[in-house]
Amino acid sequence: VEERASSDNLSVSQPPFSSDFIAELVKLLGQSHVLTERFDCQAYDSDWTKIPGDAHLVARPGSTAEVSQVLALCSRYQVAVVPSGGRTGLAGGATVKKGQLALSLNRLNRLGEVDRIGRTITVQAGVTVESVHQKAKEFSLTWPIDLASKGTATIGGNLSTNAGGVRVIRYGMTRKWVTAIEAVLMSGEIIRLNDGLEKNNTGYDLLQLLIGAEGTLAVVTEATLKLTKRSTNSQVFFFHVPSLEKLNDLLTHAWAGPFQINAFEFLSQDCLKLVQRNLKRGNNVETDSPFYVLMEVEPFQDDLTTWMEATFEKGYATNGAHGQSPEQQKELWSIREGITESIAQVGPVVKYDVAVPVKSIAEFLNSVRTQYQKTPRQFDLYLFGHYGDGSPHLNLVKQSSASQEAFEASISTFEKELFPLLKQFKGSASSEHGVGVAKKHWVKFSRTPTEMNLFAMIKRSFDPKGLLNPGKIIDLA
Ligand code: MLT
Ligand code: ZN
Repeated sequence: VEERASSDNLSVSQPPFSSDFIAELVKLLGQSHVLTERFDCQAYDSDWTKIPGDAHLVARPGSTAEVSQVLALCSRYQVAVVPSGGRTGLAGGATVKKGQLALSLNRLNRLGEVDRIGRTITVQAGVTVESVHQKAKEFSLTWPIDLASKGTATIGGNLSTNAGGVRVIRYGMTRKWVTAIEAVLMSGEIIRLNDGLEKNNTGYDLLQLLIGAEGTLAVVTEATLKLTKRSTNSQVFFFHVPSLEKLNDLLTHAWAGPFQINAFEFLSQDCLKLVQRNLKRGNNVETDSPFYVLMEVEPFQDDLTTWMEATFEKGYATNGAHGQSPEQQKELWSIREGITESIAQVGPVVKYDVAVPVKSIAEFLNSVRTQYQKTPRQFDLYLFGHYGDGSPHLNLVKQSSASQEAFEASISTFEKELFPLLKQFKGSASSEHGVGVAKKHWVKFSRTPTEMNLFAMIKRSFDPKGLLNPGKIIDLA
């Protein structure tokens, strides 16, 4: 909720930028790559959360060397820096407060050649995920991290948030698909980690430490990404599923099926209705079922009829569509990929991308629904997400009749029950969106005080002055 997040202590208070600092920045990058007008800077305020920011100065370096020079300059002037990519994040990790410099990585957009023996590609931080996919496709390869925001989301942001997406059940998260990172420390020093090695057992894994660090330890400027064979024979099912328990049965049945599961995504009836109403997608799907599953598979054999017949005979699904052609598959995927956008059109939304062990997800969601029924509420609950990863998304959307204050009050009441419940299920407060500023209150339900102390020590050892993306993930005392 915007107001709640904005009242957080996001950063140490900063004086306005001095004219000397701005002059030095302009000397480094040229006037056209330093934005000083509020009108030009406001696009850099925040990410998709719309947590309010207030950017007044944006630097747009064009090379790693320039990033290094900008950070060294900021260190000298004690200016806090917020790295900024495609700003599709969902935790406020790119939110810029007054007095902080937004460091846009978008001009670092060099897409390297595909290494066909090592099956990698080296790209700069500002390259979009979709551009990587398009380049890899020329060689029948792919970078298997796939998310609805791929056209805008950049590699720097993906690595910094350890993005998940819709095929984690098959391929895992971003961190599995990176073999080198070039990054710049707040001091301006450039570091190169792992250099593309598949195996490297020489002590602490600093590359992995930077992945998911949300730009609080170093600014990622370039990465070598691992590629894999692009699937060409996938098939997509869109099942109507009568209950959460049947979702579990369907998943168990699918694991035993004659295929590899690429994606096992679920949505509630309300999500489908919103996508149909707001985006006019999936209008031929009957809204008769409490839940739906989009399952993408890669068959080991041509004929899946026997497996499908058993699905309906055993009552795991009551209806379904089977997308075999690329067009049909795209249409079914567009329903799942449209959920976030269609929810955003309704009004203010609070998102929880929690995680629980896969075996507990149905029980957890049933408890959430019971709790939702009990809360005197000013919001509607939309459930969807990565069922097969134990990563459901709970979206609480303000009812149009509710005031902002009443909405926030009922969210607070709901959260007070939700997070202890999550802890009881040994869950995580964020499965994939990260902590940013949005989840800082809730990290303590997933991390011990010892872990939080280690976080602070790690942060200090990379960024002793606390100038790099301050106030994200943790507040330093
Ligand atoms: C998704 O699964 O679609 C993304 O995490 C976006 C969202 O949660 O809204
Ligand atoms: Zn997600």
